[in-house]
Amino acid sequence: MASQETIKRGTWGSKIAFILAAAGSAIGLGNIWRFPTMVSQNGGAVFVLVYILAVVLIGFTVMLTELTLGRHTQKNPVGAIGYIKPRTPWKIIGYLGVITGVCILSFYSVVAGWAVGYMVKTATGAFRGEVTSQLTDKIFTEFTSNPLQVLVLLFIIIGLTAFIISKGVKGGIERWTKVLMPLLFVLIIFLAIKALTLPGAEKGIAFYLKPDFSKLNGTVILFALGQAFFSLSLGMGTMITYGSYISKSDNLVSSAGWVTFSDTIIALLAGLIIFPTLAFSGQPGNIGGFGLVFKIFPIILSQIPGGYIFGILFFALLSVAALTSTISLLEVPVAYLVDERNWSRKKAALAVGLFSFVLGIPSALSFEGMKIFTKMDFLGKLNFIFGNISLAVGALLICVFVGYVWGAKKAIQEIFSGNPKFKLRPLWVFSLKFLSPIAVIFILIFIKKITG
Ligand code: TRP
Repeated sequence: MASQETIKRGTWGSKIAFILAAAGSAIGLGNIWRFPTMVSQNGGAVFVLVYILAVVLIGFTVMLTELTLGRHTQKNPVGAIGYIKPRTPWKIIGYLGVITGVCILSFYSVVAGWAVGYMVKTATGAFRGEVTSQLTDKIFTEFTSNPLQVLVLLFIIIGLTAFIISKGVKGGIERWTKVLMPLLFVLIIFLAIKALTLPGAEKGIAFYLKPDFSKLNGTVILFALGQAFFSLSLGMGTMITYGSYISKSDNLVSSAGWVTFSDTIIALLAGLIIFPTLAFSGQPGNIGGFGLVFKIFPIILSQIPGGYIFGILFFALLSVAALTSTISLLEVPVAYLVDERNWSRKKAALAVGLFSFVLGIPSALSFEGMKIFTKMDFLGKLNFIFGNISLAVGALLICVFVGYVWGAKKAIQEIFSGNPKFKLRPLWVFSLKFLSPIAVIFILIFIKKITG
């Protein structure tokens, strides 16, 4: 039966529904587009190794921390901090999250629009016949240098996101993820198996899985850490907001574990598709830029029987996976405006959506052809500042706030509800109070050296 709380906020239908929705937030372009791009630009396998370490040692900790804070306070990030410590400067965590959400949403939706565009392209036969890397290069360049097209697609993605968000949490998010995420998973496994059997795949596998430690440096660590936060939807309060909908009887530790695990598996599988196929097409591992996966997936799809149908299906599922992530990005600013500023959900979704669309325009136009934004590498800059730095700062502040201001002891009490043993407690406390904050501070201090 619905309790008072259920009526006021809405809760997840069940634990599995929560895991699917949170996994829906985590799994998206971050895994299938951003991860392979990062691997390709940051030394291959050595990046993968640091990434996995970052996920296990830091990502999981921050995931559990955000979920715990959210469930305890039942609030959006700004409200959550204020609930624990009224009138405190720590609220900056929440505001930073709101701003970061809007900024990531703006460029993320551009790429999500590409996925929709590629679904249509596949359906209309752009990748029929022999699909070479020259062909996919040309198609990508033409596609991204058509301003009207990319802007319409951007508008569609943000419009859909705002529409779903304005309908509220349960009807909106749950319905999408239940069937489609597992389907995406199956398709990706299938494509990975095919990619591994392509002639020449070994070279790609070596680039992807055999670390060359001479390539290890501060940049690699910074990007791997940033990618862990980005892919797991951490550091801006998304998981605080999602946690606020979890029932008190659910086990937060295993929920965090499942979301982290499934997200990481999907990213690793995406790499297993991209790099062997790249090698098969005769190109080195470190090329492609932001277009990498859009240039490579059509090649692997053309290698399987029924590739035409699977191609449409793949880009459709990728679009949905992206949409379940854009929903979670928009949810943070909207939950803030609804809970803290008393806006209606509809008005908040519309206003923030419109703002992100406008902010997304220069990113959408920052590819071949539109020189002003190309020169600035607008999308690349937003991706770096908000997708890496801002999330890392957010994660750091969340760890310090929960570890020291609220206090790990009180957080543990919250985790006990639904998990009375909490065996991982010492490890989590160590990572929360020492390892994670120190790792992030270390990376942020070295950032000047890295970027300058
Ligand atoms: N994690 C998502 C992806 O990998 C993107 C995303 C959704 C996100 N919500 C977020 C990233 C919050 C950072 C913070 O595609």
